Amino acid sequence: MTRRRRVVITRLGGPEVLRVDTDDAPRPGPGQVRIRVAAAGVARADLLMRAGRYPGRTPTPPFTPGWDATGVVDAVGPDVPARWRDRRVVALTLTGGHASHVCAPAAGVVELPDTLQGYAAACLPLNYVTAYELLHQVARVRPGERVLVHGAAGGVGTALLELGHLHGAEMHGVAAPRDHPLIEEYGAEPVHRARAGPTRADVVFDMVGGVTLRDSWRSLHPAGRLVSYGFLASRASPPGDLLRLRLWDALPNGRHAAFYRLSSSARRHPERIRATLERLVGKLAEGRLRPRITACIPLDEPAKAHLATDDGASRGKVLLLP
Ligand SMILES: NC(=O)c1ccc[n+]([C@@H]2O[C@H](COP(=O)([O-])OP(=O)(O)OC[C@H]3O[C@@H](n4cnc5c(N)ncnc54)[C@H](OP(=O)(O)O)[C@@H]3O)[C@@H](O)[C@H]2O)c1
Repeated sequence: MTRRRRVVITRLGGPEVLRVDTDDAPRPGPGQVRIRVAAAGVARADLLMRAGRYPGRTPTPPFTPGWDATGVVDAVGPDVPARWRDRRVVALTLTGGHASHVCAPAAGVVELPDTLQGYAAACLPLNYVTAYELLHQVARVRPGERVLVHGAAGGVGTALLELGHLHGAEMHGVAAPRDHPLIEEYGAEPVHRARAGPTRADVVFDMVGGVTLRDSWRSLHPAGRLVSYGFLASRASPPGDLLRLRLWDALPNGRHAAFYRLSSSARRHPERIRATLERLVGKLAEGRLRPRITACIPLDEPAKAHLATDDGASRGKVLLLP
């Protein structure tokens, strides 16, 4: 029996609630492959889940977090072709990725080309798939449109800037002054937080919520679209913001408002999400995407990885290596 090491959120709280356990690796069920993880991404959402501040569905502790992972298929479910074995893949795991082994639906994993070595693919499933969905499925951004991105120096923010720029949109990124050189590196115009209101954007992507969300709506161009995908300014789930988005969207003024959640899309449209991940792997292999990895931390040190992810000074993805 293969043994597995996995990070466990034992209860809600600070980094001290993280533990590393050893148990038998799960056997892949029907339609699943098991991935021997080489690198798993740590995200803001993991920290919010650990702290009990995630505004979506969170498993009840104890559970293993981890939205994305790359590695090698080491076992396949009863109905999955054996040719999947030993393939290098990347997957949106949604949960359970912070482990030496994780099972995922075979229909959702994407094989990596030999030309793509290293861990960069682990940066794609959560941040880049979300950004791609926001740009192309929700806001349907057109080349030349003016797009304002809040939290632009963050994981999803930089992916939005990069993919939006590749698409030919005029990207503006709201960030603290120390991050303005980074925003420019991604081909976008830096915007000070306090001046984010009057930009007259065609599209605004907002993960702050509260007052910022209201300013985002007011600052939209006629026929503009506001897309919310997080509520970092709130301490808990903000039903007021969600209700407001629905009401704004119903107003007959040509503007639109929506909320997007990747986990819901992954459940409802698994083929689309897989196709997007495959497209992004292709772009990465062609050298057209440049995800930033700031730290590779051993799986045995999850608290260090959470602290590094929380450290606003170092921009980029933190990876856990089993
Ligand atoms: N709905 C979805 O499908 C989906 C998918 C992925 C992520 N998310 C959510 O999106 C949000 C961002 O995730 P991420 O991984 O990109 O996080 P991240 O890498 O930590 O980046 C967050 C960015 O937001 C800025 N920020 C933090 N608090 C802020 C505030 N109160 N006002 C304005 N800016 C603030 C940070 O800048 P400073 O460090 O300078 O404060 C940072 O640049 C999280 O809420 C996450 O749960 C949602």
